Amino acid sequence: MTIKAVVFDAYGTLYDVQSVAVVTEEAFPGYGDIVTQIWRIKQLEYSWLRSLMRRYQDFSAVTRDSLAYTLRVLGLAHDNDVFDRIMDKYLHLDLYADATTALAAMRNRKLAILSNGSPAMLDALVANSGLDRVLDATISVDSRKIFKPAPEAYTLIESVLGVPPAEVLFVSSNPWDACGAKAFGLNVAWIERVPVEAMALACVKSDVVAPLTMFKAIRTQMDELGLEPDYRIRALSELPGVVAAHRP
Ligand code: LAC
Repeated sequence: MTIKAVVFDAYGTLYDVQSVAVVTEEAFPGYGDIVTQIWRIKQLEYSWLRSLMRRYQDFSAVTRDSLAYTLRVLGLAHDNDVFDRIMDKYLHLDLYADATTALAAMRNRKLAILSNGSPAMLDALVANSGLDRVLDATISVDSRKIFKPAPEAYTLIESVLGVPPAEVLFVSSNPWDACGAKAFGLNVAWIERVPVEAMALACVKSDVVAPLTMFKAIRTQMDELGLEPDYRIRALSELPGVVAAHRP
């Protein structure tokens, strides 16, 4: 197999979405975890619902609306400054520690992001993290007006990079995204950041399931959709070894 391009999901794959908790906990002491988890669950849910309803709005609107939902249902009073400060963190999420090194080790391939993020969100996030110096393209699904895992979204990879799906390795930690990419016909590496044995242990040992444990149970385990990734890895640092086994 030839791999001419390695294309990454952004939120949760290159960038740690949970790093927003530093701001939500500061804004709402003791609630940071539950806000972060419900917010992410609703954000993704709204992207899927808007795609199915054919009522697209960009990921910035979906992210704002899902945060508003979360704070409302938790009864967390706030002013616009607090809300905007939390939203701003989405433009400054932490890169995973091994991201830069892994990308640098694959410079002989085209490197890109394909994300549900809006162009403005992604351009800011990529510039703030310095990845604009190593990526050949940052691709938002916005031009297709539908979110991943809709197949139309993944067509953007060939449209922008000129590389056919059979020569692309798509990388995501989001099981739904890995399955969507596989269904579309891409080669897929899924980053299994929460090993199933750790998941089961977290559920068994505690009688009260913490918000993060509930989130991990819902969002981090491979789904039952009849689709399997080509590679299951535990971290971005394993990618150069996977890619090196294939012709550029
Ligand atoms: C992304 C998130 C939604 O597309 O995973 O970057």
